[in-house]
Amino acid sequence: MTTHHRETTSVSARHRRLRIASIPGDGIGPEVINAGLEVLDAVASRVGTFALSVDPFDWSTERYKRTGEFMPADGLDQLKAADAIYFGAVGDATVPDHITLWGLRLKICQGLDQYANVRPTRVFPGVTSPLRAVNKGDLDWLIVRENSEGEYSGHGGRSHTGFPEEVATETAIFTRQGVERIMRYAFSEARRRPRKHLTVVTKSNAQRHGLVLWDEVATRVASEFPDVAWDKELVDAMTFRMVSKPRSIDTVVATNLHADILSDLAAALAGSIGIAPTGNIDPQRRFPSMFEPIHGSAFDIVGKGVANPVGSFWTASLMLEHLGEAHAAELLLTAVEQVCAAGITTPDLGGTASTSDVTRAVCEAVRSSNSASQTAKVGEVTA
Ligand code: IPM
Ligand code: MG
Repeated sequence: MTTHHRETTSVSARHRRLRIASIPGDGIGPEVINAGLEVLDAVASRVGTFALSVDPFDWSTERYKRTGEFMPADGLDQLKAADAIYFGAVGDATVPDHITLWGLRLKICQGLDQYANVRPTRVFPGVTSPLRAVNKGDLDWLIVRENSEGEYSGHGGRSHTGFPEEVATETAIFTRQGVERIMRYAFSEARRRPRKHLTVVTKSNAQRHGLVLWDEVATRVASEFPDVAWDKELVDAMTFRMVSKPRSIDTVVATNLHADILSDLAAALAGSIGIAPTGNIDPQRRFPSMFEPIHGSAFDIVGKGVANPVGSFWTASLMLEHLGEAHAAELLLTAVEQVCAAGITTPDLGGTASTSDVTRAVCEAVRSSNSASQTAKVGEVTA
């Protein structure tokens, strides 16, 4: 922890206090996380049901270069005190990506057993999908990614290093328990959504061990959810379906690697990778879950004040929902959508607003929102 712990909103008896560990990280991470904390404050004041207390951590590539570690040895224990983790971005051109990832982000995901990664997609107002004739709601998807094993389990190694016969193995691991818990989570998420439909993505035609187990477990878990309709799609056919029949998709579950790829396609089809959020969830709530925008460090625009904070805001909304503040989560997302619809957007979305313009407009929309009917007067917001 580098800077001081801050109490952002006064805590009174009717407030729950939500303890947030913030890890802004590298690149534009600090810019978008600061913006996110500002709107979270506005939401807390507006709804009055919770107060935030934020613990900032300086875990980043800069810290790694200085100390040899992205996070201290007891880092995971420090995080366990939080209700949730708000994460910016990590990675820079001077340190190989696999060092950075395994040193910080994957270390947290695996160490806190955040085995479900969720990635909602939707076409935001003011954002244009590259797909023709996409209407509101057509790309309203939730991708659930297995986040603890599969192709990113970390199993493998290298032998004969540096010799012509050098060999490297990268073993995908599928455990019955690991598949069962992600399937159960995906079916329950599908059940919470209006369409109650789940597509299980697989590749069991070619990957005849792990992915056959994956399919078998999916079929068994499906029988626990008779009210959820489901189908199965091979991952290659799924890319085709996402583009050609987007309306046939609602909730999706896929392995670590498959969902990694499909979620980038989903973000592109929704018109912008700059706004997509993700949650690394421990559904059993033994440990804090971690929420992050997926856009990454974006070093080309660092310090220019034009980073799009919408991904960070949507991320904050996911975090509030996870923490049981569904009303606040919806109020925030509605405010963000209204600001986007009013054309107050950063250059990546074709607008001329700066990060702080968008942040100010969202805070304004939150303040003027009618907490009951959720209607904000965005026409009155000036960028
Ligand atoms: C993502 C990213 C990361 C991941 C990379 C950077 C390892 O692509 O969040 O999808 O695959 O987890
Ligand atoms: Mg990815």
